Amino acid sequence: MKISVQTSEKTYEVMIRSGLINQAGHYIEKMIPASSYLVIVDQHVASYYLEAFLQTFHTANIHVSVVPSGEQSKSFQQYEQLLNDCYAFGLDRSSVIIAFGGGVTGDLAGFVAGTYMRGIRFVQVPTTLLAHDSSVGGKVAINLAKGKNIVGLFHQPELVLYDPDLLRTLPNQEWRSGFAEIVKMGFIADKDFLLWLKAEVAQLPIQDEKKLEYMIGKAVALKADIVQQDEKEMGIRGILNFGHTLGHAIEGEMGYGALTHGEAVAIGMAFALKVSEQKKGRDFSSSVYLEWLASLGYRLTVPQVLKSENLLAQMMKDKKARHGTLNYVLLEAVGDASIEAIDATELKTFFD
Ligand SMILES: NC(=O)c1ccc[n+]([C@@H]2O[C@H](COP(=O)([O-])OP(=O)(O)OC[C@H]3O[C@@H](n4cnc5c(N)ncnc54)[C@H](O)[C@@H]3O)[C@@H](O)[C@H]2O)c1
Repeated sequence: MKISVQTSEKTYEVMIRSGLINQAGHYIEKMIPASSYLVIVDQHVASYYLEAFLQTFHTANIHVSVVPSGEQSKSFQQYEQLLNDCYAFGLDRSSVIIAFGGGVTGDLAGFVAGTYMRGIRFVQVPTTLLAHDSSVGGKVAINLAKGKNIVGLFHQPELVLYDPDLLRTLPNQEWRSGFAEIVKMGFIADKDFLLWLKAEVAQLPIQDEKKLEYMIGKAVALKADIVQQDEKEMGIRGILNFGHTLGHAIEGEMGYGALTHGEAVAIGMAFALKVSEQKKGRDFSSSVYLEWLASLGYRLTVPQVLKSENLLAQMMKDKKARHGTLNYVLLEAVGDASIEAIDATELKTFFD
């Protein structure tokens, strides 16, 4: 399956196919020729797939930087290390960085590519379910110690090669993380897709190859559609943050990595769903969806160790907050999201 993503700068392809990894180098060299390549690869991914991946390239002009796995790698220290690697390997403006890993690797490698020599090209080779989201749309970033994705830019990839076979080695918790973002796409943009997911996915991981490919393709297409309408997040793209304001606050307060990104977002979605119902005075049958998510292993309440005043303070520091008011993503109906201003007092009432 191929999906084209059109942006103001360029159009790029997202190719999704089982077994694609065996030809990855061939495609990259043919479609994105470069003076040299740097593969920035997650440590776990390297242990499973790096050797075979490198063998699919013909060029000898290919370098590798392995980064420790986990959110902690989206740090200034790791970023600086990678810039030094780029320089030491002699990367120039015609070089290409290849992000081979999950969302952490994609965000980090993309930020390196976006800033090294004022920006060089990069390719995404995602290896997690969540990366169906992070590898498309061009948002790249690193974290501050307490502020997620605070330092970043928009830098679109040249190509995304997604092989669902790589997900077979993914731990169950990471399947839950990625699947939460897929469910999010249904909530915000496509009720039929959400109902399909609810009917077809009774447990994770998903074994059926065709189902998995369809699901990833559909989620990527929905994301591409939103990104194309609003590349720089001036408006509608903000709905992709459904569940993220609280999700990010939980991640920040727990310490990155204690809960996966998607698991934290799932709690945020449960909260946003309830707030939507209350604020709109409508019944979205939220309990039906929440029971299904709980049956897949999601916890849907805020961990008790977290203090609500700290979470509220974190939420008010969100990038979308202005003058004590948050732009919060709510649902008009299931499959139809909108962004609404909520002030700190109102948020506290819902939280209580
Ligand atoms: N840029 C965006 O638009 C965007 C969107 C959503 C999320 N994100 C970011 O994505 C990040 C989360 O991404 P993630 O969930 O992919 O996390 P991740 O990259 O940390 O990967 C999760 C874990 O899975 C391991 N792993 C990766 N691929 C594997 C494989 N094939 N087999 C076995 N293990 C594997 C990794 O080593 C890691 O331990 C967050 O930093 C989030 O902010 C970005």
